[in-house]
Amino acid sequence: MKEKIAEIVKAISNESVKNTEELERFRIKYLGSKNVIKHLFSELKNVPNESKKEVGQLLNGLKNHAQEQFDVIKIKLENSSSEESVIDTSRPGDQIEVGSRHPLSLVRSEIIEIFDRIGFTVSEGPEIEDDWHNFSALNFPPEHPARDMQDTFFIEKGTNEMALRTHTSSVQVRVMENEKPPIRTISPGRVYRNEAISARAHCFFHQVEGLYIDKDVSFADLKQTLLYFAQEMFGEKAQIRLRPSYFPFTEPSAEVDVSCTICNSKGCNVCKYTGWLEILGCGMVDPNVLESSNIDSKTYSGFAFGMGVERIAQLKYRVNDLRLYSENDIRFLKQFTSGI
Ligand code: PHE
Repeated sequence: MKEKIAEIVKAISNESVKNTEELERFRIKYLGSKNVIKHLFSELKNVPNESKKEVGQLLNGLKNHAQEQFDVIKIKLENSSSEESVIDTSRPGDQIEVGSRHPLSLVRSEIIEIFDRIGFTVSEGPEIEDDWHNFSALNFPPEHPARDMQDTFFIEKGTNEMALRTHTSSVQVRVMENEKPPIRTISPGRVYRNEAISARAHCFFHQVEGLYIDKDVSFADLKQTLLYFAQEMFGEKAQIRLRPSYFPFTEPSAEVDVSCTICNSKGCNVCKYTGWLEILGCGMVDPNVLESSNIDSKTYSGFAFGMGVERIAQLKYRVNDLRLYSENDIRFLKQFTSGI
């Protein structure tokens, strides 16, 4: 018995405990519910009576020794791990990533700045619109296909049918209702159309629409304003061409192309080898629209135009998939670090 005790004392001294798992193994072996020392205690009854006292004391000593060793090793381990976690103040800090402005914000700001330089103010309006401001005041006949469920997201609200605005022309109606000419304003904002999402179409996008109303505003003013815009946005060599078109709220109406900035009008796959890229719709404000907002169409005339911010950004940054703008992919967004 005495030999066994001496053996265990030696074994305890020889234990090398390097981490908490090994410490736990030590605990189970010498202090756990089925530990080796307990086992010796159970054998005490077989020790001859005259040695019982001495062996008992040795066993108690062994038990205390095991506990002491355990405590010492535990404290040592705790100290060494806390040494590791001491903060090293001389280490260089982690790099904090700086965010960047969204390409659509950059382009919208640039459009606003370009028109600000020729006196256009910025107007904003609600994204949930009534039929009057989105359609009726803009001379949309009741049966016009743009009112169709396929294009417009309708929202039921009380007795009035409301919809997510399909263009920011609705803001221009609000301006015409509330202000007297001369009016010179642009309305940037998000618009919604019920389209299947693809690389070339989305259910929401951003527009900047412009409106100029005064005495004697002519189509020549419109054309020159748009040429100024194209050259400010795409460079002084940019040219524009107007193609006849139709919008309910303008007469005459036109669609505007800018000379392809990518191939210098030589022909490439972006301009589909035409040398021209479509950028916006425009026209002279229909007299019916002026009258709907109580502006005398005999005294005043005006022009309006509307462009998609995504389209301008696409041409500026060569982004060929509309979905990239709203997917929040950091690899895409990181590319637009410089302010315009
Ligand atoms: N509102 C038209 C659209 O959303 C654009 C436009 C605005 C066209 C003003 C002509 C004049 O497509």
